[in-house]
Amino acid sequence: MRTILVANPKGGSGKTTLATNLAGWLAGKRQRVGLKDADPQASSTQWLARRPALFPSVAGFGGDVGKKELRDVALEWLVVDSPAGLHGEALRDSIKRADALVVPVTPSAFDMAATARFLQVIAEHKAVRHGELPIALVAMRVDARTRSAAELDDFLGQFDLPLLTHLRDTQVYVYCARDGLSVFDLPRSRGEQDQEQWKPLTRWLARHAAVRNP
Ligand SMILES: Nc1ncnc2c1ncn2[C@@H]1O[C@H](COP(=O)(O)OP(=O)(O)OP(=O)(O)O)[C@@H](O)[C@H]1O
Ligand SMILES: [Mg+2]
Repeated sequence: MRTILVANPKGGSGKTTLATNLAGWLAGKRQRVGLKDADPQASSTQWLARRPALFPSVAGFGGDVGKKELRDVALEWLVVDSPAGLHGEALRDSIKRADALVVPVTPSAFDMAATARFLQVIAEHKAVRHGELPIALVAMRVDARTRSAAELDDFLGQFDLPLLTHLRDTQVYVYCARDGLSVFDLPRSRGEQDQEQWKPLTRWLARHAAVRNP
C-alpha cells in the first residue's frame, strides 16, 4: 500500500480538496483506494458519505484506523487528509507512515508564512533529512498567468521542492465537494480543463510514490 499524506497546518489551504480529488483519481483508475480522514472536522468523511454509489468506490477510514485493519482490506493506495494545526507527535507519526507528501499552498501572505514554517519544521524530520520522502507543492486557487501566481512561485522557489501545478480558482471544486465527486468523475466537457491541471501531480505521484518500507 502506498500512502499519500496531504498536509499543511494552515486551515483552509486546500488539503481536503486535494485529498478527495486524489482519491477520486485513483478510484477512476480502478485502484483499490482508501481515504483516511484524520481531521475531527470530518470533511472527507462527509464528502465520502455524499459520493454517489455509481461512481468508482473509495473506502473511508477514521483517523484512528489501525495498521492491521488497513492490511486486511489490502488497499493499493491510502490518501490521508490531515487536520489544520498538525504538529508534534501526530505530524511525526504521519510522516513516518507516508510514501509521499503533497503540500497545498494558496497565494495569501498568511498561508505562505505558515507554509514556510511548516516546511522548516518537516525539514528536521529524519525521512525528509535523508531524502527518503518525496515532497511536492501544489499552488491552490490560483491562475498560473496571474501576478499572485508569480509571487507565490517566487516564494516557493526558495525551497528545494517541486512546485508541480497551479489549480485554478473555480466553482467546479466547490460543486465537487458538495456532490461527493472529484474533477475526474466529471464528463470531459465539464472536467477537462481541471483534469489537465492535475496531470503533473498525478504523473509525479505515479513516478515517486513507491512504498518506502515494503
Ligand atoms: N481550486 C479551488 N477553487 C475554488 N475553491 C476551492 C479550491 N480549492 C479549495 N477550494 C475551497 O476552499 C475551501 C477550503 O478548502 P479545503 O476544505 O480543501 O481546505 P482544508 O485545508 O482542507 O481546510 P481545513 O484546514 O479546514 O481542513 C473549501 O470551501 C474548498 O471547496
Ligand atoms: Mg480539510
